Parts: sequence; structure tokens; C-alpha cells
Amino acid sequence: MKRIIGTLVVTGVVAVLGVAGVVYFGLINVGADDPHSAPVHAFLDTARDRSIEMRAQDIKVPDLTDQQQIRAGAGNYDSMCVACHLSPGAAPTELSNGLYPAPPNLATAGLAGNPAKTFWIIKHGIKATGMPAWGKSMEDQYIWGMVAFIQQLPTLDTSQYQTLVASSGGHQHGGGETSQRGGGGHHNDGDAETGHASDHDGAAESDQSSAAKSTQHIHADGKEHVHEH
Ligand code: HEC
Repeated sequence: MKRIIGTLVVTGVVAVLGVAGVVYFGLINVGADDPHSAPVHAFLDTARDRSIEMRAQDIKVPDLTDQQQIRAGAGNYDSMCVACHLSPGAAPTELSNGLYPAPPNLATAGLAGNPAKTFWIIKHGIKATGMPAWGKSMEDQYIWGMVAFIQQLPTLDTSQYQTLVASSGGHQHGGGETSQRGGGGHHNDGDAETGHASDHDGAAESDQSSAAKSTQHIHADGKEHVHEH
């Protein structure tokens, strides 16, 4: 018995040293252009899915068919999400191409799981993926608005999308963004999320939201609309 325990301890120590060595000698390539191996991918995928499932299970889903909420979701989505998640008819962007894991194209994919999971993901973000935690600056009702909107998104064509965004009243999410900037909100400078990406991108990207864009995006970075809870 003692000997078995001894063997197990030695094996454990060797395994830990092995892993430490792999890390110490930099054998893990953290480059975003180097995909995970299949086992690492499967491990991370499962960890992510289980983590979200467990945390989203008690979230109560409100009515997601309210048109006004969907419209508000459209305005916020167009301001904050399209650079990574695209919109109907939009060409890929540098962000959508360059991030790893790649942001899913929500214009075609729709909701991956149930609305509660989508809400959790938008609110809390996903570590080390580029998906931000929007709950730091957005109130829940606005996050639900985007969930409601994303649910409809795959059914919209380019012009329906634009019409909905134009009717949304722009970017508003209870994070202090409108009160800080007052009326109008014509604020296109230094817009890292949308302006920059679309500047480099061909016709598909600029025609898809130019009408709405100039009045939409009121804040330029996360810092400006973080507020105390
Ligand atoms: C800087 C890029 C970036 C921005 C901006 C961004 N996301 Fe994401 N998002 C990601 C990435 C990357 C993933 C994939 C993470 C993963 O695979 O684990 C993701 C995942 C998601 C998912 C899960 C989709 C699925 O199929 O599992 C949802 C929903 C989502 N984002 C919604 C949003 C919304 C809504 C916004 C805007 C408020 C937004 N994202 C803004 C990068 C971004």
C-alpha cells in the first residue's frame, strides 16, 4: 500500500514538473494566429460551455418580442458589436478576421444557445477571447434588448437592418452615455469599435450602416461610460 502511494506521489510530481517545464520553456504559442490543438480546443470549449450553462440556469428570460426593445437593441448592436460580429451583408472586418477565437457572425448565426446564455455572455463577456463584459456599463434591460434583437437578426436583410437601426434612436444603454454627451451625439472621432474598422473596409461595410452611424455612437471607449454600481 505504502509503495503504491509512493509511486502515485512520484508520478504526480513528475507530471506537475512536466507541465511547469512546458510553460517555463515557452512551448505554448499564445499567438492568435496559431489555432489550438484539437484536445486543447475541446477542453476550452467544454469549460466555456459548462461555465456559461451553470451560471445562466437561474436567469429568468423576459418577453423578447417587444418592438421597442428590439429597436433599442438594434441601435446598441450597430454601435458596439458590428466590428466583431458583423451585420447583414457586411464584409468581414480586421477584428472579425483577426481575433481568435473568431467572433461568430451573429447576422447569420443568431443565438447559439437559449436567450439566458446569450444574456449572460453579453453581460459578463468571455475571458481571454476579446468578448467584453458589457454589464460593466450597460443596464440589464438594454442587454435584453440586444438579446431580443440578435434573435431576430438572421431574418433581416441589409435594408431591413438599416431601417431598424435608423429607427432605434441610436446608442443608449443606461450607462450615462447620453447624459454625458447631451443631445445630438454626433461623435465619430476616435471610434475604435466601428469607425476604424469600417474605414478600411470596402463598400459593403460602409453602405451598410453609414446612414445610421453618424448619429449613433456616442462614446468612444469603455472608460467613458463606466459608472458606479
Ligand atoms: C472586440 C470584439 C468583440 C466585440 C466588440 C463584441 N464581441 Fe461578442 N464575442 C467576441 C468573441 C471573440 C466571441 C467568441 C468567444 C468564444 O468563442 O468563446 C464573442 C462571443 C459572443 C457571443 C456568443 C456567441 C456564440 O455563438 O456563442 C455573443 C452572443 C456576443 N459575443 C454578443 C456580443 C454583443 C451583443 C456585442 C456588442 C454589445 C459584442 N458581442 C461585442 C468578440 C466581440
